[in-house]
Parts: sequence; C-alpha cells; structure tokens
Amino acid sequence: MHVTIDLDKCAGHARCYAVSPEYFDIDDDGYAASAHVEVPEGAEQLAIDAVAACPERAIQICEA
Ligand code: F3S
Repeated sequence: MHVTIDLDKCAGHARCYAVSPEYFDIDDDGYAASAHVEVPEGAEQLAIDAVAACPERAIQICEA
C-alpha cells in the first residue's frame, strides 16, 4: 500500500509517527520526513490509523 503525505499540509503533529514509527518517519521538529511511505501487506491498518490520526488530513492512501 502506497501512502502519500502532503508536506505542505503537515504541521508537525507527529501523530503518524506515534501510530506507526515503523513506517512513518519524522524530522527533528516533528514534521513528516518523507512524502511517500510504502506500507506492506498485512500492515494496512497502521496506514489507515495514521490517516485518521493526522489532524491536518495530510496523509492519503493511494489505492493504485
Ligand atoms: Fe504531519 Fe500529520 Fe504526521 S501533521 S507529522 S503528517 S500526523
């Protein structure tokens, strides 16, 4: 599953990292460090939880 993060929307809440530090990386200021995250099969729920956790709605799941 491919996940994109709109770095312009990211406000540094770091909740994606709190939900799934295995896949979501943040910089020293708590902002998302990468605009693209690959979440493997079996871990989709972590991506879904991260989407729900971001108050800026910066995280989107790409179905393709
Ligand atoms: Fe940014 Fe949202 Fe994560 S604001 S650090 S993408 S929880």
